[in-house]
Amino acid sequence: MIAEPYYLDCDTGVDDAFALAVLAGHPGVTIAGIGTVSGNTGAGQAARNTLDVLALAGRTDVPVAVGAHHPLDGAFTGGAEVVHGGNGIGGVELPTATRMAEGRPAVDLLLDLARRHPGELRILAIGPLTNLALALRQEPELAGLIRDVTIMGGAVRVPGNVTDRAEANIAWDPEAAAVVLGAAWPVTLVPLDVTLQHRITEADQTALAAAGTPLRAALAAMLTTYLDFYEPLLGVREVPLHDALAAAIATGDLVPAEAPLLGLRVTDDGQLVEDPAVPARTRVVLTVTGDAVPVIRTLLR
Ligand code: BDR
Ligand code: CA
Repeated sequence: MIAEPYYLDCDTGVDDAFALAVLAGHPGVTIAGIGTVSGNTGAGQAARNTLDVLALAGRTDVPVAVGAHHPLDGAFTGGAEVVHGGNGIGGVELPTATRMAEGRPAVDLLLDLARRHPGELRILAIGPLTNLALALRQEPELAGLIRDVTIMGGAVRVPGNVTDRAEANIAWDPEAAAVVLGAAWPVTLVPLDVTLQHRITEADQTALAAAGTPLRAALAAMLTTYLDFYEPLLGVREVPLHDALAAAIATGDLVPAEAPLLGLRVTDDGQLVEDPAVPARTRVVLTVTGDAVPVIRTLLR
């Protein structure tokens, strides 16, 4: 299998950590670089979490750059402690990796990678879209250099998770989302419509904990806070792994089933509204073929 170059943009995050684990162990993926953004936690803490998870995965070769702390318009509001714990990864204290983040911002890393891999670099964005929007503003040619962009975000035909209609990654920086969805690059959007349909269970947590590697043990430990948050909402002790599902779509391990091209307008409060006046060029994954959970389990092995 030929490994393809990916740039990951994340706000690590419990489900981001699972996405990172999917990419880090994937034979078809070269993680060319990672940028962080404020979302679940601050961009600096997200970089710390990313470096520590990478170290547990034995990946000390991946450049990690801290990205935007604040959204394009306004200020970071402090993250999602109730969902992801105070440190973003369920309150789990990972061994601190010796490696530090790059001395340059995430936008510079992304632009550098795009120029080094023209037409080949694939982007997976699983946090607010601030870094991508800033990069597009700084380099108008960026969209033409990128092979494709997969985004976990939005609630298109289902209720949102931060308001009735808005999902976190879009709502935390709607201006950036509008820039990114309006750019001339192929975008696959992986919204709550599909991620909420596939949930891992406490039995998966137990199996991960028993798998006997530090990375899997850490992922299992992170799930406790996440399960605690979702249990009263779902009525069962299960969780959607939004970002890991998006990662598996980006790598081709999960195949979209119902995935119309839609024109999406971003409202000021972070809703994605289907609008016939907007060119229909965002591929929106509403369902995938088969059950995603066994696929994600296999990718985490
Ligand atoms: C998205 O928001 C974050 O809390 C998760 O990491 C995921 O990227 C789900 O709405
Ligand atoms: Ca995320």
